Amino acid sequence: MRVKLAAGNWKMNGTGNDLAEARKIAFASPAPRSEVLICPPATLLTRMADSVMGSPLRLGGQDCHAEPAGAHTGDISAPMLADAGATHVIVGHSERRSDHGETDAMVRAKARAAHAAGLVAIICIGETEAERDAGRTLDVIRAQLAGSIPEGAGAANTVIAYEPVWAIGSGRTPAPAEIAEVHGTIRAAIAGAVADPGAVRILYGGSVKPGNAAEIFAIADVDGALVGGASLKAADFGAIVAALDAA
Ligand code: PGA
Repeated sequence: MRVKLAAGNWKMNGTGNDLAEARKIAFASPAPRSEVLICPPATLLTRMADSVMGSPLRLGGQDCHAEPAGAHTGDISAPMLADAGATHVIVGHSERRSDHGETDAMVRAKARAAHAAGLVAIICIGETEAERDAGRTLDVIRAQLAGSIPEGAGAANTVIAYEPVWAIGSGRTPAPAEIAEVHGTIRAAIAGAVADPGAVRILYGGSVKPGNAAEIFAIADVDGALVGGASLKAADFGAIVAALDAA
């Protein structure tokens, strides 16, 4: 049985004023059955860890460097995230791939670094709109998986997030049958890369909202969501978590 996961990605949003919102998410009543994770900006990690202590909320980073330490101005390493209170880290988000030119090989190195630091790596993949229009979605997904998953990956240290680039922040989502097709393809494709493909959680991400969450969570092989905009408000994220619990 795969434990469902609702992961919030705050991206470059949030200051100390938003810790109250994180507390509302952390101490929601009733307590969720699903795992709930917030990935705040790194500047908030330690303060958020303090303010949600005693709750089931887990915290994650949004990226990490492939090296544990060194002369890399502005970067943050996986051991630093773990030290700050993170248990997870997102790697290969499409905004990192496009804004910072991250390749599959870089994402794999980051996931390896996350594992070495004891963090769960949430490895993001997804096609662009041009790739979908060209009928290349499944090929792109398979290639990204083949390039981004490091040796030693498994359900205990790795989550896959399918995020179509064109669905992120756009209010558009693929049809349920399209999500099902990709998630089924991911489940099959990871069989060669992990020892326990049936146990690995596969999240959908891209414009998940309270209004579409139940429909998305009813799709086979959708084990939760990676949520951007709708994770910033406890009311919206709480409704998504409730839909995941009910699925
Ligand atoms: P969105 O972002 O929910 O705002 O579309 C999802 C993501 O980028 O993880």
